[in-house]
Amino acid sequence: MKILITGGAGFIGSATAKQLMDRGDKAVLIDNFNNYYDPRLKRDRIKIFLKGYEKPARRGGSFKLYTGDIRDVKFLEKVFQKERPDKVIHLAAMAGVRNSLEHPALYADINIMGTVNLLELSVKHKIKNFVYASSSSVYGNNKKFPFSEKDNVDTPISPYAATKKADELLAHVYSHIYKLPTTGLRYFTVYGPWGRPDMALFLFTENIFSGKPILVNNHGKMSRNFTYVYDIASGTITTLDADLPYAVMNIGGDRENTLMEFIGEIEKNVGKKAKMKMMPLPLGDVISTVADIKKLRKLGWKPTTHIDKGIKNFVEWYQEYYGV
Ligand SMILES: NC(=O)c1ccc[n+]([C@@H]2O[C@H](COP(=O)([O-])OP(=O)(O)OC[C@H]3O[C@@H](n4cnc5c(N)ncnc54)[C@H](O)[C@@H]3O)[C@@H](O)[C@H]2O)c1
Repeated sequence: MKILITGGAGFIGSATAKQLMDRGDKAVLIDNFNNYYDPRLKRDRIKIFLKGYEKPARRGGSFKLYTGDIRDVKFLEKVFQKERPDKVIHLAAMAGVRNSLEHPALYADINIMGTVNLLELSVKHKIKNFVYASSSSVYGNNKKFPFSEKDNVDTPISPYAATKKADELLAHVYSHIYKLPTTGLRYFTVYGPWGRPDMALFLFTENIFSGKPILVNNHGKMSRNFTYVYDIASGTITTLDADLPYAVMNIGGDRENTLMEFIGEIEKNVGKKAKMKMMPLPLGDVISTVADIKKLRKLGWKPTTHIDKGIKNFVEWYQEYYGV
C-alpha cells in the first residue's frame, strides 16, 4: 500500500513510517519542518532514523518526502495527484498544551483548517481509510477513571484539546456524509527515542545530565499512562488496516505510572539524582490520564513496552544522538 503521512518528520510520524516500510508499504511524508522545536531533529529523523529507506529496498518499503504546509491546499492537491495514496495517516499538528494557551489562533488554523483540507482531499481522491491523531487531552478534567471513549468530552481545558475535539467532530461529518472511513486516535503521553524536546522525558533527561534542576509539576502528584512510541506506531497501523467506517479510540499504555516513578527511572538510567524544583499544576494541564484500551485491544493490539525498558531506550538514544 501507499500511505500518505502528514507530520512525517515528527516523533510519531517517523516511527509509524518506519514500521510501515518495514512491512513493505510505501510512505509519502509531508512536513513543514516548523520551528516549534529544533527542526534539525526533524531533519535527522529523516536523514538518520529513516536512512536506507529513501529508495525501494529488497523488502519493498520506501518513502518520499514533500516539504510543505497542510494549510496550503494547492500543495496538498499536487501531492495527492502525483502520489495517489491508498490511505492517509494525518498527524501534522501543533502539539503541546501549554504553548496552545499562547498561540490559540495558530493551533486553530493548523489543527482544524489543516484537517479540513485533508478530509476534503481524502474524499475527492477516494482514500480508503483516514486515521488521524486526536489526544487524551480531550478528556480534560474527566473525573471517571479509566477514561473511556464513551465518556463525555465536551469540556476541554486548553485550546489544543479543543482543536483535537473539533477534529473528531469534523471526521464524523466526513464519515457520515461521504462515507470516508475515519479513525481518531486519542494518544496518551507518548515517549521514546527521537522524542520531542518540549516533553517531560526529554527535558528531565537533559537537565539531569547537565546538573540543572527539573521542574516537577503539581509537586509530583501526577500520573500518566505513558505509551512507548513503538506501541503507538503499531496501534496506529492496526487501525489503518482495520478500515472501520467511523471510530474514535484510546491508545495508551496498560500501566499508570506516577511522575515520581517516571523520574526515578530516568535517574537510574542517567546514573545521577535529579535536583527537583516543585511547581504548581500549570494552567491547562491535567493531574491524571488513564486509558481504557479495550476497544483497540479487540482489534488485536496490545502495548508491549513499559517505562523500565522504554526509558532505557530513550536515554541510550539521547546519549548517542547528543554525544553525552
Ligand atoms: N506525542 C504525544 O504525546 C501526543 C499525544 C497526543 C496527541 N499527539 C498528536 O500526535 C500527532 C503527532 O505528534 P508528535 O508528538 O509526533 O509531534 P511532532 O511535533 O513531533 O510532529 C508533528 C509534525 O507535524 C509537522 N507540522 C506541524 N504543522 C504542520 C503544517 N502546518 N504543515 C505540515 N506539517 C506540519 C511538524 O513539523 C512535526 O514534524 C500530533 O497531531 C499531536 O497533536 C501527540
